[in-house]
Amino acid sequence: MSTSLHPRRVYIETYGCQMNVADSEVVAGILSAGGFELTGRIAEADVILVNTCAIRETAEERIVGRLGLFSTFKRGNPGTLVGVLGCMAERLRRDLLEEDWVDLVVGPDEYRKLPALIAGAFEGEKGIAVRLSRVENYDDITPLRTDGVSAWLSVMRGCDKFCTFCVVPFTRGRERSRPLESVVREVATLAGRGYREVTLLGQNVNSYSDGSRDFADLMRAVAAVDRTMRIRFTTSHPQDMSDRLIEAIAVEPNICKYIHLPVQSGSDRILALMNRSYTARHYRALIARIRRAIPGAAISTDVISGFPSETEAEHRMTVDLLREIRFDGAFTFKYSPRANTKAFELPDDVPEREKGRRVQEITELQHAIALEQNRTFVGTVVRVLVDGPSRKSAADFTGRTATNRTVVFPRTSEEPGDDADIRIERASSATLIGVNAGTAPTLAESAA
Ligand code: SAH
Ligand code: SF4
Ligand code: F3S
Repeated sequence: MSTSLHPRRVYIETYGCQMNVADSEVVAGILSAGGFELTGRIAEADVILVNTCAIRETAEERIVGRLGLFSTFKRGNPGTLVGVLGCMAERLRRDLLEEDWVDLVVGPDEYRKLPALIAGAFEGEKGIAVRLSRVENYDDITPLRTDGVSAWLSVMRGCDKFCTFCVVPFTRGRERSRPLESVVREVATLAGRGYREVTLLGQNVNSYSDGSRDFADLMRAVAAVDRTMRIRFTTSHPQDMSDRLIEAIAVEPNICKYIHLPVQSGSDRILALMNRSYTARHYRALIARIRRAIPGAAISTDVISGFPSETEAEHRMTVDLLREIRFDGAFTFKYSPRANTKAFELPDDVPEREKGRRVQEITELQHAIALEQNRTFVGTVVRVLVDGPSRKSAADFTGRTATNRTVVFPRTSEEPGDDADIRIERASSATLIGVNAGTAPTLAESAA
């Protein structure tokens, strides 16, 4: 393979959170600047890179299954390199190189080394680079994005919160932020390239600080770049959700009125064991402040069920909190013990079946709440940013509202990136379904 005539082709597959999606674009940027070509087809790849997630055991198991397929592929194509990137690479390090079909192991802060490591691996030298950095933020790298409606933009990396269940501080290292001016410049470039939406990313965006400016300052600066561009952000930690930030979201017209604010549990004893640094009461008060300042704001959350020693009564506190707050969406996970974390030292004593039952109870409750919330939109007209064809049918398009609700409608003349006003006719717990109010007959007309 060392004398191939075409530039080396790299195939990248990505798992995990949006930060990983953004990181894969950084990797693609580094590699294309280094003379590599990117491909979407495994069959023509000289290098297969898998950007991995380590958040829960189930996430890792899925990736391990996929890696198994690549090892089989490699048996038939021995010249192809296989590299593991991202959070599993950082967590498992040298252990991964024990597999004879793994050629590269590269952690999230070492992607600049990829071109050199790949060159070495083609010479038969396995490569590993897993040092975490206090400063690396890939500020000068232009991510290779596919043109579209919506772009991801990492504004900070790492996490210093050390929630006791979470592997991220170990796989991503310490918090560091990009300078405000450089984020603003990148948003201006994206606006110039036709993007209609940008999502500012960090494991904990609220603790963004470039020395003198905080996340509220950053959001305001970014929102002012182009008022026709939607600004979103994720993820927020309840502890750092300041009133200044809430005000920025309320006041800036093009900041989406949607906040993902993981609560994890409704029990103060469990929250303390998780090191979440807030109480259920503080969280409820925060939601009330947000709803007062931003009427109609959508709020979603994450919940962990079956944390060590969680009792049925404590689970009920979580259920009660969800019933009371009525989130627009909730992701519920079974607790998964992760090596090196503090909670790993506690016995994982909620039986698997019981975890499953608790997750199911919360999921069903949230499903019913989301359905009720969505039904209140039936008969109203909502403004959406058009994404493109729906997954189920090419005749239908999807768009999202400013509160991040997915709307499906028969395509008339809309193009991706357009704004459209959709009259909602039906709702499920996950989507609103309607017709373009500008071009389609109203319900009353079509009934007549
Ligand atoms: N930085 C974000 C969360 C990132 S991880 C925040 O703090 O809000 C996304 C979600 O995965 C978390 O909110 C949590 O609900 C879940 N999670 C993280 N570690 C987990 C574990 N060990 N077991 C189960 N769920 C976990
Ligand atoms: Fe993990 Fe907590 Fe950091 Fe979120 S804030 S990434 S849950 S340690
Ligand atoms: Fe997973 Fe790493 Fe993101 S563990 S959730 S890919 S930061």
